[in-house]
Amino acid sequence: MYTQDQLKAMVAEAAKDEVLKAMAPGGILGVGTGSTANLFIDALAPHKDYFSGVISSSQASTERLRKHGFNVLDSNAVNAVPMYVDGADEIDPQGHMLKGGGGALTREKIVAQLAQSFICICDASKQVDVMGKFPLPVEVIPMAQAQVTRELEKLGGRVTLRQVKDTNQTFVTDNQAWILDVAGLSITDPVQLESDLNQIPGVICNGLFARRKANILLIGEAQGVRRQIFN
Ligand code: 5RP
Repeated sequence: MYTQDQLKAMVAEAAKDEVLKAMAPGGILGVGTGSTANLFIDALAPHKDYFSGVISSSQASTERLRKHGFNVLDSNAVNAVPMYVDGADEIDPQGHMLKGGGGALTREKIVAQLAQSFICICDASKQVDVMGKFPLPVEVIPMAQAQVTRELEKLGGRVTLRQVKDTNQTFVTDNQAWILDVAGLSITDPVQLESDLNQIPGVICNGLFARRKANILLIGEAQGVRRQIFN
């Protein structure tokens, strides 16, 4: 039986192989954020010269990539990338994802939008029939926090302003904004909910990746890594 960390390392390794096989040398790769993405960055590090550059979805990933010697580019300088590799907090049978546990949802969505193919890497615990057990992160402009909280409560959510772990300090994103974590939603129509939440004034972005879902899932299971393609 593998531990969760071993499963994450296995999918990170599989993603490295997938990227090196699918991409021509000299291309630009999109890189995600979180513990699984970190393992992917580490697995890819010996091959850094295969890429002309990478674009990153957070300051934390940028720092890790630079330490390994990757050429991290400004996403404004890139029109498209062939692939984006990132983890997820939940993924449903259609490949819709719930993300943002690490607070990088907005930049993740920006980089994912530039990608022709989204490769989701995660361990089996992330696969669900209906998303919403993991609280849905919603990034907000601080002055709209109370107002957005009321709107999210009307949808049946229990809303918490994210704090820095083990402190009573408000978590501040790379975009100098705040995160509302919304528990208690049963997300049966993620495409619609993603759009609806984006209509609330003050919402910067929400953690549903349904309109731009995963194309390929590499999932770590007891039997090893399983590869699934979504249409
Ligand atoms: C960060 C994310 C991560 O992809 C998600 O939280 C999964 O993280 P981990 O690989 O640590 O389980 O969306 O904002």
